[in-house]
Amino acid sequence: MRGFEVLERDGLARLGRFETPHGVVETPALLPVVHPDPERQPIPPAEMADRLGVRAVITSSYITWRTPPLRSVAERDGIHGLIRFQGTVMTDSGAFQQHAYGSVEVGPEEILGFQERIGSDIATVLDLFTEPETGFADAEAALAVTLERARRARAARPGLLAVPVQGGAHAELRGRSADGASGLGDVLAVGGVVPLMEQYRFVDLVHALAAARPALTPAGIVHLFGTGHPMTFALAALFGVDLFDSSAYHKFARRGALMFADGTYALDELRERVCQCALCATTPLSDVRGWPAAERERHLARHNLVLSLEEVGRVRQAIRDGTLWELAERRAAGHPALRAGLVAARQHAEIFLATEPDARRAFREVTAESRDRPSAVRFRRRVDAYRAGRAVGPRIPRVALRPEYLRGIPTEDRTGAPIAWESETPFGPVPLELTERYPVGPYLGPEEFLAPPRHRSPADVGRALRARADLEADLDRDWTEAWTRRQVEALLRFEYGPEVGPALAAPCVGERSRKTGRLRGLRGPDGPRFVVGPDGTPRPTFRGGGAVHAATGAGRFRVEVAEDAVPFVREGRSLFARFVQGADPALVPGSSALLVDREDTLLAVGRLALAPHEMRAMRRGVAVHVIAHARSTAEPAEDEDVAELPVWPPERPSDG
Ligand code: GUN
Ligand code: ZN
Repeated sequence: MRGFEVLERDGLARLGRFETPHGVVETPALLPVVHPDPERQPIPPAEMADRLGVRAVITSSYITWRTPPLRSVAERDGIHGLIRFQGTVMTDSGAFQQHAYGSVEVGPEEILGFQERIGSDIATVLDLFTEPETGFADAEAALAVTLERARRARAARPGLLAVPVQGGAHAELRGRSADGASGLGDVLAVGGVVPLMEQYRFVDLVHALAAARPALTPAGIVHLFGTGHPMTFALAALFGVDLFDSSAYHKFARRGALMFADGTYALDELRERVCQCALCATTPLSDVRGWPAAERERHLARHNLVLSLEEVGRVRQAIRDGTLWELAERRAAGHPALRAGLVAARQHAEIFLATEPDARRAFREVTAESRDRPSAVRFRRRVDAYRAGRAVGPRIPRVALRPEYLRGIPTEDRTGAPIAWESETPFGPVPLELTERYPVGPYLGPEEFLAPPRHRSPADVGRALRARADLEADLDRDWTEAWTRRQVEALLRFEYGPEVGPALAAPCVGERSRKTGRLRGLRGPDGPRFVVGPDGTPRPTFRGGGAVHAATGAGRFRVEVAEDAVPFVREGRSLFARFVQGADPALVPGSSALLVDREDTLLAVGRLALAPHEMRAMRRGVAVHVIAHARSTAEPAEDEDVAELPVWPPERPSDG
């Protein structure tokens, strides 16, 4: 395999692609479960491909093997011939039948060899299915068997191999299993969770995913066995699940149930036209109710699969937009058990923080719990670090950081002591000068409509301050300049820490947008050094990168470029993961970073596409996008370091 490539990401979730002998699979993808007996399959896989764009399915090699007529067709025509599908076919091994019926009658070598013979694109090791109730000792013994089988399978199979992750409810075993699988499998398939999903035990599901996640290599394709209902896809994707597989579209149809991303309806109880998908629009569900069972089942299965695929599309779009937490929260609102799962997910903030982007375009609140998303957890921690050792001052309502407001807010009292205003924000009190930074600046929630800071007039603020008896400060002076100074210092201190930030700020002056009054850039004596984006984060120009470079050392804020790639990076080309020599572990996706060579010469300034630990693990894909670089060294020195700094993210129009 040429390796899994990550193209876009949102936290742990990613849009990726990998190649198989029967085509490319773009992830996240839903692999519909297909019955190997075409007679028992409600929707022909060829129809899934032609009408619904399905490029990969999963089927059972075990059922095929143990059913002689199916086995002989598969041995003659291959698994693609048997199920009549020319896309990617993953085969499962029989462990699920062990769960359902108590045993399987095939050995691990036999079933792996069979998957090989029938031309499976992704073969699965015959794992031992561990039930959620299994005790530690038994789960541990079963895991040892699964891992030994996986070792033998890897040695026997050159093609793509799925290694199941078991361990039951034991976090330590989940971690060990994930670690073992990471060294052996191309696809790392989290298993043993179907009973959890069937019983709506999403809290336990989340704990299982959280236990496995840190030990799963970022280069692996993560599969979640039996991710049935579309309302769970966003939650699974949050943990970096790349492949869902499901027979739920068929199982629910058999029970007369219609799946939607926000819940389920029983056909028998439906009196209204709740679905207008292409199928239900032309064939009203009220008609379907009267149909013979088999036809009804086929209709509902089609509806269920269409709605499931639509939700995969929503998840994919949310990853592109950086809004997956928002989508997961909206879906969780569909069922209290799912909400509980999301509460449990937020308790595992550490798992998300290493890949959580440093800023996003927007922070849209779905519920009050949105304020505990990992991005908000990180922000609060960084605010605590920013405040460390300094006095926390009086509270002030949230105002926009524009001259008409700032003019009347004194930064110091009559003795010259600074006043450390704390603004009341949806994320708690935040130093006023930091309130344009993500997530506070781009916050959009009900508070914006109930008590919008933009409706608070500068005169209101002035009156409120004058009413404060304790305020020993000059309220008649214009404080705008002092605020600009404070903001410049604060932004760089917040970004680069208390040692480096103030030194970087000293030679810089802040520039405000003439249109909006917002701080838009930080200029040094030699020209622009930082651009402040809509997320409130200062992004260095190449010149600014030079200043950071000079003020810091020992790998900080740096990504070291392998020698072969140095000329390309110098010209502004993206840095690929396999050319990364090392990276500051404190960086996260979206961070600005200095790209340097082995001698620590600054080559370019970039934005991380991957977290440092992912760069080490990945063999493919972009690790750092180059944003600004040195122009040809032949050019005159004066202009040498100026390269245009594009607005980031590229789609976002600049606000002046
Ligand atoms: N299908 C659903 N759950 C599982 C599992 O744990 N292992 C395998 N191999 N297949 C499954
Ligand atoms: Zn429908």
